[in-house]
Amino acid sequence: MNIIIEKNYEAMSKKAAEIFSEFIENKPDCILGLATGGTPVEMYKNLIRMNKEGKVDFSKVNSINLDEYRGLSGDHDQSYRYFMNTNLFNNININKANTFVPNGLAKDIEEECKNYDERIEQIGGIDLQLLGIGNNGHIGFNEPAEFLNTKTHLTHLTEDTIQSNARFFDKIEDVPTEAITMGLGGIMKAKRIVLIASGEGKANIISKILEGKITTDIPATLLQVHPDVTIIVDEAAAKLIKQP
Ligand code: GLP
Repeated sequence: MNIIIEKNYEAMSKKAAEIFSEFIENKPDCILGLATGGTPVEMYKNLIRMNKEGKVDFSKVNSINLDEYRGLSGDHDQSYRYFMNTNLFNNININKANTFVPNGLAKDIEEECKNYDERIEQIGGIDLQLLGIGNNGHIGFNEPAEFLNTKTHLTHLTEDTIQSNARFFDKIEDVPTEAITMGLGGIMKAKRIVLIASGEGKANIISKILEGKITTDIPATLLQVHPDVTIIVDEAAAKLIKQP
């Protein structure tokens, strides 16, 4: 895994946006895997600015999002579809019909998950996947567990994740307890992966995923077997990385 350490959140976000825009320049019709959470917000702002300045063109890009809360409609201001629309898609020249986020209101969840994986295959697989990381090492909503799923599936959020994501909701009882998430197989099949993390709160988990031990208790440690992963962190999140 390659690691890039930037001074602060702003520099980390700029670096990640540059990697994405260069990638799109080289492959204008690429398939991007996109993520939500607090971390990518500034990176998306950079991409919006670059798009407005004519430096990056999303017109032929397709995007696949990692996950969605179960029970929230795309109009709900805490749904990941709403997040993507407001933080990126509404502000760039992407064709919304080419942006995919799981449907949190799907009646038949199994069917929704199956269709989601089929769609990824049909459009040619993910070229470049963006990941954030949960404090407990989850990626997408693949939570620590004895067994991990390879395919898109319904997952129960851990108490830890519910607590951390409560900051986005009025009260903790409003945080959905379930989500649809791409599985580890879907993520690992991406040709290239960029994981971003910022702040002291992520220092512990970042050091663990670089340690060299793989465990389903920390799903992100599986990234160690992927051939092309770049981790971009700021100095605060890099604080506990052991020097070689
Ligand atoms: C959510 C998302 C993850 C994201 C994580 C970290 O749980 N499902 O994809 O990586 O939050 O979020 P943040 O960037 O806000 O720390």
